Amino acid sequence: MAIIAMVSAKGSPGVTTTALACALSWQRPALLAECDPAGGSVLAGYLSALEIEPMGLLQLAVAELRGTAATEFPNQIIDLDGKQPGRRLLLPGIADPVQAGTVRPTWDRLTAFFAGLEEGEPGHDVIADCGRLSSAATPWPLLQRADLVLLVVAATSLRTISPAMPAATQLRRDLTENGRGTGSLGLVLVGDGPYRSAEIQQRLQLPLIAELPYDKRTAAVLSDGGRLRGNASLLRAAAAAEDTVAQAIARRRAQLNIGQEVRHG
Ligand SMILES: Nc1ncnc2c1ncn2[C@@H]1O[C@H](COP(=O)(O)OP(=O)(O)O)[C@@H](O)[C@H]1O
Ligand SMILES: [Mg+2]
Repeated sequence: MAIIAMVSAKGSPGVTTTALACALSWQRPALLAECDPAGGSVLAGYLSALEIEPMGLLQLAVAELRGTAATEFPNQIIDLDGKQPGRRLLLPGIADPVQAGTVRPTWDRLTAFFAGLEEGEPGHDVIADCGRLSSAATPWPLLQRADLVLLVVAATSLRTISPAMPAATQLRRDLTENGRGTGSLGLVLVGDGPYRSAEIQQRLQLPLIAELPYDKRTAAVLSDGGRLRGNASLLRAAAAAEDTVAQAIARRRAQLNIGQEVRHG
């Protein structure tokens, strides 16, 4: 597959948990890249039992400026799954939002680097946790290049759903003006509430790619560490989302290829 960017809207939490659940449960090798400009969460959360030196996105961005990203990359990632080394990887995010300024000028090149990981041996999908959508700090070059941009929305109430409206509008506008169109956009709903998913997807005008259950116990482990139960509903739903995501990416790539063929006659 490819680059799957996940973003959330103001007041609608769950993007980090969703991205981590996918990275831990997909069949295909995956790299969870913590690209949230507000900072990474996994080192201080799910992996808080480990003592890990500062590493990850910031160091990779600095290496990218020096032209050494490819050689530096293996030093900046952590194995999320000791039983299958190299298959589920984490690129920890920045530790302090001020570091976002150092990373920002490198997003174009970091994105190209992430895209190249698909061709590795084994090839990795990059699941990028891009945090809450904002105008300035969001890693837009990554969103513009991503094969799939998933808006993660907590379906709990009108309060959590309604901020997704302006977020979807902002994504559509940016991808139309600066990216490759809106065909990469999709919706992930987390939990449920008074509105049916069909209703929400229609209101937001985004295709529904996955639905994840409200699973407090598993989410608490993904947020703060502890032992995961293999049959947890959240992990099962995340695993099931892999196929739909793969299909959406295949459709998107076919659409872009047709577009190219038409342009080049
Ligand atoms: N599917 C879920 N079921 C239950 N709780 C969840 C779920 N997803 C997230 N949470 C909880 O919501 C809170 C915020 O989640 P998080 O993923 O860190 O949000 P964000 O990255 O968008 O700020 C955490 O306490 C997390 O455990
Ligand atoms: Mg987060």
